[in-house]
Amino acid sequence: MYHVSVMPLETSRYLVNNPEGLYVDCTFGGGGHTSYLLNKFEKLKIVAFDWDEDASNRFISQKEDFADRVVFIRDNFKNIKNALAKINISKVDGILADIGVSSKQVGDLDRGFSFNSDVLDMRMDKRNALTAKEIVNSYSRDDLADIFYKYGEEYKSRQIADAIILRRKRGIISAALELRDIAGSVKRSEGKINPATKVFQALRVFVNDELGNLEALLSNAPELLNQDGRIVLISFHSLEDRIIKQDFKKNAAAGIYKILTKKVVTASQEEIHLNPRSRSSKIRAAEKINNA
Ligand SMILES: C[S@@+](CC[C@H](N)C(=O)[O-])C[C@H]1O[C@@H](n2cnc3c(N)ncnc32)[C@H](O)[C@@H]1O
Repeated sequence: MYHVSVMPLETSRYLVNNPEGLYVDCTFGGGGHTSYLLNKFEKLKIVAFDWDEDASNRFISQKEDFADRVVFIRDNFKNIKNALAKINISKVDGILADIGVSSKQVGDLDRGFSFNSDVLDMRMDKRNALTAKEIVNSYSRDDLADIFYKYGEEYKSRQIADAIILRRKRGIISAALELRDIAGSVKRSEGKINPATKVFQALRVFVNDELGNLEALLSNAPELLNQDGRIVLISFHSLEDRIIKQDFKKNAAAGIYKILTKKVVTASQEEIHLNPRSRSSKIRAAEKINNA
């Protein structure tokens, strides 16, 4: 299984208020949300983005099912405005982003996202140069500690950075599982949660500039949305959720958005049971109300 989509029904309810409209799925992944929307609304069209080669191949394998209702762009969604302009699109009826990694990316040991991987990479787009291996082996103690603290909210950030610097004296750290063990030597596990969880999250967010990409997408969205157009974000950790919440608040105060999710939307117990990954997912949605 490539990936099980999170809250497809809720996503489509918040996203689509023009069933014949043009929408952007910024994070195609396994194509789950795109397929769901196309099946539900037979005249809806989608421009799908993903920067990962695997997602691009997945699109090619599903292309027949989508007929001529989807265009795929292999690019970072932070470039949404220019990429759409290249295909003569300046306005859309909705923008969806289900941010983070797919189950396929985490499950493929050669991508280095998993604790058990014997590589240390974590790039979602292999065309980018910076890898987790380079960061772990070349950044200073203070820079490492800052990354773990800022992007993982890791309270033992300095001690873990110290342990990495010490371990580096014995040679290059080239596997995710070595990094897992270094974090484990500093921290005890908290229940079922691996002690390296926050360090891995921090490195992944940093390697892929996930917060920078999200901010760029949010700042482009008002200009791209038609009046009454919707933006729906699915996020998985508090750093992202905070950025989305603040952006919506700012645009609501400026009279540009109406916030549709006064309370953040989370997955039902039934969905969490069927898809444990949905446990930490949150939907926030807004509607563009002012075309000025
Ligand atoms: C959680 S998965 C999306 C799953 C998808 N909604 C589905 O139903 O199958 C996230 C996807 O977004 C992609 N992604 C993350 N950040 C991106 C970015 N800045 N630009 C383009 N794609 C990105 C990842 O490569 C991954 O395939």
